[in-house]
Amino acid sequence: MSQEKITAASLPPAKSGYAPADYDADYHRSIDEPDAFWADQASRLAWIKAPTKISDVSWDKDDLHIKWYEDGVLNACYNCVDRHLATRGDETAIIFEGDDPSVAEHITYKQLHIQVCRFANALKARNVKKGDRVIIYMPMIPQAAYAMLACARIGAVHSVVFGGFSPEALASRIIDCGATALITADEGLRGGKKVPLKKNVDAALAKKGVDLRTVLIWRHTGADIELEGSRDHILNDVLMDVHPDCRPEPMNAEDPLFILYTSGSTGKPKGVLHTTGGYMVYASLTHEKVFDYQQGDVFWCTADVGWITGHSYIVYGPLANGATTLMFEGVPTYPDAGRCWEVVDKHNVSIFYTAPTAIRALMREGDEWVTKHDRSSLRLLGTVGEPINPEAWMWYYNVVGDGRCAVVDTWWQTETGGILISALPGVTDLKPGSATKPFFGIKPALVDNEGHFIEGAADGNLVITGSWPGQMRTVYGDHQRFVETYFSTYPGLYFTGDGAKRDEDGYFWITGRVDDVLNISGHRMGTAEIESALVAHKAVAEAAVVGYPHDIKGQGIYAYVILKQGKSESEELVKELVAQVREEIGPIAKPDHIHITPGLPKTRSGKIMRRILRKIAENDYGALGDTSTLADPGIVDTLIENRKNR
Ligand code: WTA
Repeated sequence: MSQEKITAASLPPAKSGYAPADYDADYHRSIDEPDAFWADQASRLAWIKAPTKISDVSWDKDDLHIKWYEDGVLNACYNCVDRHLATRGDETAIIFEGDDPSVAEHITYKQLHIQVCRFANALKARNVKKGDRVIIYMPMIPQAAYAMLACARIGAVHSVVFGGFSPEALASRIIDCGATALITADEGLRGGKKVPLKKNVDAALAKKGVDLRTVLIWRHTGADIELEGSRDHILNDVLMDVHPDCRPEPMNAEDPLFILYTSGSTGKPKGVLHTTGGYMVYASLTHEKVFDYQQGDVFWCTADVGWITGHSYIVYGPLANGATTLMFEGVPTYPDAGRCWEVVDKHNVSIFYTAPTAIRALMREGDEWVTKHDRSSLRLLGTVGEPINPEAWMWYYNVVGDGRCAVVDTWWQTETGGILISALPGVTDLKPGSATKPFFGIKPALVDNEGHFIEGAADGNLVITGSWPGQMRTVYGDHQRFVETYFSTYPGLYFTGDGAKRDEDGYFWITGRVDDVLNISGHRMGTAEIESALVAHKAVAEAAVVGYPHDIKGQGIYAYVILKQGKSESEELVKELVAQVREEIGPIAKPDHIHITPGLPKTRSGKIMRRILRKIAENDYGALGDTSTLADPGIVDTLIENRKNR
């Protein structure tokens, strides 16, 4: 743990005037009188019918339910768009910065309203109704946000699939949520390269079991695409024929807003379900407090809308707060490694939120790429997605922020809807590498492997002991899986899957996943998913995947593969295996190492000893622990020998 500390007092105060004593008072109230606290917070939103019931939660395995604001009625899209029209209709809602640096666009709230209404009417014209599931498979362009908000407006449940996922991954999500419609673009653009979105959609829809009525295609690059009779429609044309106004559908606070798939330690990705009222209150409150958002700020979160960070902090949180949110289509290193800071200067970005992997990659390119840009508009920096090493934190703070901007390291998950642990600017003394303190209403705790609470400065498994409005409500279509994944390891507690240390000041330091989930460049991947992609190859008998420390990506993917009888290792085969994973999941899941081995270290009962595989992948052979209980202890030497020869 780094001992460095940067006091809040040495940095500019929060623009909101929020001070340490305010945090203490608000935090205590949020814990001591949660319903009163969250009742007050509900008034951040415009309700058609204000809620009178605040929370009804049970984390008991046999009666697990989570309800917030259950008798409230509202519309999420209305809250993000319509209610700002009277006060800031002509102000910018979305700044679009294209992949091509010469492309930029400002969309005002009034324009956003018209676009979203048209998108909503286009969906209605295709008979999409309240409760229907709609897949959004889009590049990072404003039309992705219009599509999300349009679904919310008519009460359809969107499920955004990251544009980097393969047709196979897209197909399994379409099937799992039973989507009837899909919104996509002809192509995406990233770093000057084209992403064949519509082609991928065609490939996904050709797969067995995929049945979808409507595909709406936004013409973005103008690429040649194939259109399928009554199913495919060019959205740009449909929008011309529909009315520019659309009544927002009154939704119950507990009606689903979206499903977002995320990887777990077992099986296929889970459809994390978020509902309307609680999620919106939580996204909006965390956006305002953690980022000290004030009118006039330009907020840039570099995530993709395909991840939860994009949902909560590009679209729903900022727009609920009437903010100006920047959407960037490209990548931080195109056309050069100074792109982010060029964009900051061009659009006067004041709050910048990115992932440690991007920070580490830019750090490697050298300070000049940063320092040659002005950056004086910046006043706050944030990170999310994976643990940030103190060295990268200090670089971000000193070089990007010139030592004058607080860095908020925000810990949270797809499941949590919004930030749970983070510093607050002007309030929290910062320690590089620590996510610091819990947000309002959040009660983190550490438990040992038996589930006993550990007090004081210690190391343990991170759990949360009580609900908050942004919590996921279920796994779509599989409530039992929800119960088992999160509430059965430590009954009565929400298990995050993360390990953490708590120091003597009560600060939390997230140490990473303690389950079989990898975090590759801030993207979650289940080892089981990658393994099943590998064994789908005809030459593979068995596979075991582990993570290992990687300088830029945080973690890299190391795959041990046993071949079937009669198959032998070749460069060609290794290439095929990598291609197989790309095809089943997408480029982000591509193994960095494939280690062909005659066997794996297993216990006598057949359980793979992943701990040993992790150590070997890390090139750390001194601490393998007791290997005598293995069915075949000799296999460890073979693995080490092969590892050394790579
Ligand atoms: C990790 C992203 C350390 C963690 C919002 C968590 C972090 C997983 C941090 C969730 C952070 C996220 N410090 N680790 N500030 N933020 N993580 O669902 O392991 O894509 O469980 O949500 O990312 O990833 P997800």
